[in-house]
Amino acid sequence: MALQQKGMHGAWVSRWTFIMAATGSAVGLGNMWKFPYVAGSNGGGAFVLVYLACILFIGVPVMMAEVMLGRHGRKSPVNAMRDIVSESSANLRWSYLGWLGVVAAVLILSFYAVIAGWALSYIIEMGSGVLKGVDGDAAAVAFNQLLNNPAKLVFWQTVFLTLCVAVVMGGVKKGLGVAVETLMPILFFILFGLLVFSFFRGNFSAAVDFLFSFNLDQLTSRSVLEAMGQAFFTLSIGMAAIMAYGAYMPQKASIGKTILIVAFFDSAVAIISGLVIFSIVFATQGIEPGAGPGLMFISLPVAFGSMPGGLLIGAIFFILVSIAAWSSAISLLEPCVAWLVETKNMDRFQANMIFAVIAWILGLGTVFSFNIWSGYQLFGFTFFDFLDFLTANIMLPVSGLLIALFVGYVVDKKIIASEMLGMHPKVQLLWQYSLRYLAPFAIGAVFIMGLYDRFS
Ligand code: PHE
Repeated sequence: MALQQKGMHGAWVSRWTFIMAATGSAVGLGNMWKFPYVAGSNGGGAFVLVYLACILFIGVPVMMAEVMLGRHGRKSPVNAMRDIVSESSANLRWSYLGWLGVVAAVLILSFYAVIAGWALSYIIEMGSGVLKGVDGDAAAVAFNQLLNNPAKLVFWQTVFLTLCVAVVMGGVKKGLGVAVETLMPILFFILFGLLVFSFFRGNFSAAVDFLFSFNLDQLTSRSVLEAMGQAFFTLSIGMAAIMAYGAYMPQKASIGKTILIVAFFDSAVAIISGLVIFSIVFATQGIEPGAGPGLMFISLPVAFGSMPGGLLIGAIFFILVSIAAWSSAISLLEPCVAWLVETKNMDRFQANMIFAVIAWILGLGTVFSFNIWSGYQLFGFTFFDFLDFLTANIMLPVSGLLIALFVGYVVDKKIIASEMLGMHPKVQLLWQYSLRYLAPFAIGAVFIMGLYDRFS
């Protein structure tokens, strides 16, 4: 069969646009908000090492597999999976994997938009000067006021989803392509500026010590699960996003090399964000690095508020976070939209509106879990914690595991050979080895240990 060069949605103009788009998807709240606090509460260095190992040996191979499926199918994940399953004469149940990804994408988008809304609102809080000179208690009060104000949360959630629709509506070339090619350079530029600022004004050496010193005794099976869940989340694996983006990848581009570049950018951004955040946190007395989810929204404002010119830098920091979240969220919306456009013959605007509204309504659950529903629990979680746990710790590992097994054992070898053309045979062997043995074993073991640890 001649390889299709393009599907009905078009393609990225170049490999570089794919790299920017995939990096945009990968770099998000996971790198800037979650990674620093998860690393912080798991003791720093040893956790970072496990995280990087998970990215390289498990994340990258699975991500390559996912991109390969997308590129071969040249359709939305649901339909791409269906085609590949029938081309490989495999059991039809494998095609549910596409659905699993799309459902995970909608669930994640629903809470992602709420948290991204916090970042948007903090651009204004910082820029307006109300947080000048606040201490830890006052910053916590300000953050709690935001969380206890459903109307404000819904307002920012709506603004954020509108921004996403505005991009995805434009299609692959003029919407997503133009957005990532504009946003990513801005993101790198701001991050670099903040790195320089934190190097001269923050406690940089304490941050380096914290992120790179090995506290092996703080590493539990739970933190290994968190490291792997985080590696998958940050690479956007298992949620249809990367498969959808793969469908628009130029046929000539090497999947292996391209994904290594994306993984490198993603890890670099996580570590640089960690260095920026912790050098600023350590420069201010009395702030805990293991502050949890409040690290970015409570500890950082205190730190920024106490530095000369800090509020302006703080506002720029939250612009950075918002851009990162925006370029990720569009990759969650795209696979859903592409599916509706393909199957229901809908135009992009309608398809966008449908999924944005679904994510918005589901997102209300997250909004309320911080205020009027904070007393209600689902399996011992608030609604938001439940969604976070369900997606990052259950759906992602399961979907990653199935992708590894599917490409490792089930997909027709001819498909793999045609997509991985030009890959060094030894590297291909290594890749296959990871998909067949290493990834399934590691994901399976860590997944079960983590569940046991959580519910025992
Ligand atoms: N990778 C993104 C982050 O680190 C989250 C994401 C997951 C985005 C899945 C798209 C798809 O924040």
